[in-house]
Amino acid sequence: MTDTMQSHYGREGIVERLLEDLAEAGVDTDRLGVDDLGTFDEFHVGRREASERLLPLLGVEADHMILDVGSGIGGPARFLADRTGAHVTGIDLTPEFVDAATELTRRVGLSDRVSFRLASGTDIPFEDDRFDAATLMHVGMNIEDKPTLLAEMARVTRPDGTVLVYDLMRVGEGDLVHPMPWASNPAFSFVDRPAVYEAAAQAAGLAVIERLDFGDLARAFFDTPKDTPPSGPAGGGDPRRADRFRNARSAVHAGIITPIALVLKKS
Ligand SMILES: C[S@@+](CC[C@H](N)C(=O)[O-])C[C@H]1O[C@@H](n2cnc3c(N)ncnc32)[C@H](O)[C@@H]1O
Repeated sequence: MTDTMQSHYGREGIVERLLEDLAEAGVDTDRLGVDDLGTFDEFHVGRREASERLLPLLGVEADHMILDVGSGIGGPARFLADRTGAHVTGIDLTPEFVDAATELTRRVGLSDRVSFRLASGTDIPFEDDRFDAATLMHVGMNIEDKPTLLAEMARVTRPDGTVLVYDLMRVGEGDLVHPMPWASNPAFSFVDRPAVYEAAAQAAGLAVIERLDFGDLARAFFDTPKDTPPSGPAGGGDPRRADRFRNARSAVHAGIITPIALVLKKS
């Protein structure tokens, strides 16, 4: 299962293709900044706009340590560190993404505060209470075992710290048609209802503070995909990319799925 998920996301030459896209968009790739990458390195609905909305929900301060679970190529981690001054650690199961995240972070000069490591959200390699906050952005759709995922995120977050989830969740009836952006087939697609996340959170000692539906952002994102990078967020080479996008868009418009933000607090 893991291999399938990793081969779904992982590709060679991610950074090289991304730099080509950026150069084509007129960016000076020898002097890269976090904001040059914003359209290209965030693999969630609403991209940078969603991250801007999520940031105040986290309550992060400059001396905080944040864990980003399923960090992809590091866009959200760099954004959080850049805007808040905090230290951010990303973990991800796809080796090519961990390497790309590390290299892009070096290129924007944030390596002293942002780092990445190959690891699973269901087996987090850090001690209890280590982080002030933990984030999960569009990763739960790949993880069947929500109770273990939330328990692990709660374990490594300090008491009174925040766990922020931003996932596509099921809110209506109807079949999901694959391929989807997060899964080529249903075998590794685990889209769940908000109640499943909330039950897992509560069992892990996390109180549900807020549940926000980002459906407006999703509809705007899917209907005006003008900022989509030419070779796709994973650095191109995906012949089914248009199908994935179309299927996700249909499911959002049909009211089957929507991006939900859950603000959870460790008691
Ligand atoms: C849609 S991408 C989102 C990446 C990033 N959070 C963002 O918003 O840009 C999903 C990511 O979750 C990672 N992932 C899936 N299952 C995981 C697991 N069990 N533990 C850690 N990462 C996982 C994938 O490798 C991929 O990088």
